Amino acid sequence: MENVAIVLAAGKGKRMKMDVPKQYIELNGRPLICYSLDIFEKSFIDGIVVVVGKGEVEYFKENILSQNNYSKIIAVVEGGDERYDSVYGGLKAVYDAQYVYIHDGARPCVDEDILLRGKICAQKYGAAIAAVKVKDTIKIVHPDGEVSATPDRNMLWQVQTPQVFKYHLIKDAYDKMICAGNSVNITDDAMVMEEFGSVKVHIFEGNYNNIKVTTSEDIGVVKNILKKYEKKC
Ligand code: CTP
Ligand code: MG
Repeated sequence: MENVAIVLAAGKGKRMKMDVPKQYIELNGRPLICYSLDIFEKSFIDGIVVVVGKGEVEYFKENILSQNNYSKIIAVVEGGDERYDSVYGGLKAVYDAQYVYIHDGARPCVDEDILLRGKICAQKYGAAIAAVKVKDTIKIVHPDGEVSATPDRNMLWQVQTPQVFKYHLIKDAYDKMICAGNSVNITDDAMVMEEFGSVKVHIFEGNYNNIKVTTSEDIGVVKNILKKYEKKC
């Protein structure tokens, strides 16, 4: 396959403080995870690997797969304790792909234009991540609250997913990281490429609407964005 998406849905959603993991909460009558799956299903992507929580494969099949006609899902695998464990599980389930699009299932407002920009950037550089320019001034602050520095805002970008890579490059980088047993403070896939990979990571334009549902305040914002997107369709 040329383009395979790895959609992550194995987190516990601790900051959301709800009974169900946030990927399964209903937004405008549809489970959150379905929004990004719908986009990948309708796009140029050839296959989708979904990574779900431990013991949740059956739940996902019964509640998501059986209610939807996803023709591109090639595997549903269990993730691990940390996000990078889940990504590694997804990467191992992708047997052949030229490019992988690693995406947080908690970002339901992704759109096909973002995927296309990612494809072009990854074809050029091998490692490409969605990002938007930081709008606020950012401070480096000591634990006691004292401000120590103000980085130049022109150099600051807020990073999103999808993060798109040549498959063999990101798989090699992850293999090296796991082999080295050195995965402290890894929060995204670009960091794995930066620390253990063989090519430089480049950014492509994301979208300010492509937010990650993290805390309960995000739910209202995302519902409104999704309503606007529905009207455009
Ligand atoms: N994720 C995952 N496996 C993990 C941790 C996270 O697949 N062990 C996924 C989440 O499902 C989410 C994405 O990675 O789609 C981004 O993670 P985050 O927003 O941190 O989600 P959670 O880990 O679920 O939330 P929290 O950190 O609040 O517990
Ligand atoms: Mg998390």
